[in-house]
Amino acid sequence: MSSPAADLVIRNASELCTMRPVEGRGEAVLGSISGGSLACRSGQVTWVGPDAELARNVALGATTRVVDAAGCTVTPGLVDCHTHVVFAGDRADEFSLRCEGATYLEIARRGGGIGSTVRATREVGEDRLVELALPRLARLLEFGITTAEAKSGYALNLPDELKMLRAVARLPTLQPIELVPTLLCAHAVPPEHAQTREAYVDLCVKEIVPEVARLGLARFCEAFVEQSAFTVEEGRRILGRGKELGLVPRLHADQMSAMGASELAAELGAATADHLECITDAGIAALAKAKVSAVLVPTSTLFLKQATYAPGRRLWDAGLNVALATNLNPGSAMTENANLSLALACLFNGLTPAEALWAFTRGGARALGLDARLGSIEPGRQADLVVHACPSHRHLAYHFAVSHVRTVIKRGAVVLDRPAAPCAAA
Ligand code: NIG
Repeated sequence: MSSPAADLVIRNASELCTMRPVEGRGEAVLGSISGGSLACRSGQVTWVGPDAELARNVALGATTRVVDAAGCTVTPGLVDCHTHVVFAGDRADEFSLRCEGATYLEIARRGGGIGSTVRATREVGEDRLVELALPRLARLLEFGITTAEAKSGYALNLPDELKMLRAVARLPTLQPIELVPTLLCAHAVPPEHAQTREAYVDLCVKEIVPEVARLGLARFCEAFVEQSAFTVEEGRRILGRGKELGLVPRLHADQMSAMGASELAAELGAATADHLECITDAGIAALAKAKVSAVLVPTSTLFLKQATYAPGRRLWDAGLNVALATNLNPGSAMTENANLSLALACLFNGLTPAEALWAFTRGGARALGLDARLGSIEPGRQADLVVHACPSHRHLAYHFAVSHVRTVIKRGAVVLDRPAAPCAAA
């Protein structure tokens, strides 16, 4: 065999979930190989197939690292396409108030909620934001997340939104998770503009969005269209300006009320509409027609005790790309637990365990426009891989809210290794 030796080989997984592009529903979407193996070289996957065919197809050298995945499930690295991982302060006090009966919107109206995190985030410098985000990213990695989107939106003025996005830009140099930045200056109207909201929308359109685009600090521009945040018209102005300047639109849509946010996402050709707890049939049809990805974030539906979860089953069956994310943030989902998201997606959004895993890998990569490189295990794709110490994909959601992760590989390098992690089914 003349091909160069592999750098890394993973052998004989009980189930290797390739997530090769397959349309449909149920377990077919996994492209599973029982007794599956794979090889990587220079950060890319070079071969995938049954272990019995490895020797014929892959050269092993003296330095090839061989990972024995017997009894384990191997998946692509998880792609968390909706996080607010950079912020300061916490909202444990509001959690207590909510447990006593106050609602998220009532707390927001009293100056808490996003406003409270804005105050805390404005008070600290960029270095501190980086320092605070690092342990959160370490916990995301422990759940197998190798790529995450990271939003601004807790600063809501030009210098501090830039500070947040600069922190996002520095973080990949300090830890293994790759980050995709989103400008979320339209997360809430800041307190100093409570009586002059139009002036804040002008500030976004004329200063914040253009400066972020000029500096190349974000890939997406997002708006929260909701009663407590921005109107459809305001969202259209801000996202429209972003789009003119090359920032791809996204929306927090139909989270607590249906006020036309999904329809706006469709009109703008947004990459994603996220949340969708209150989406209407017309909203689903609009997203499907415009090929907008639907991002499910059931951790926040749970944490806010909302009566209705997003209709994941109907979104999937309508032919949308469905993605699943942690929504890590201090107010509505203070958790890095991707495995909890998988379970909630099965129990309340109506996905199967296979579809939920697909949504957190290939679906997330598609939502971020990165599926040519990430989200599946195929020759030529980036070698972002996770070995889970459980025998099938089903165990991830079934044995819920714990990490099954044994080994995480980013760009072909082992970045987390817990060889002693016991198989969950043992
Ligand atoms: O995605 N919905 C708006 N934004 C966040 C919550 C932000 C916060 O409460 O701090 C979310 O759920």
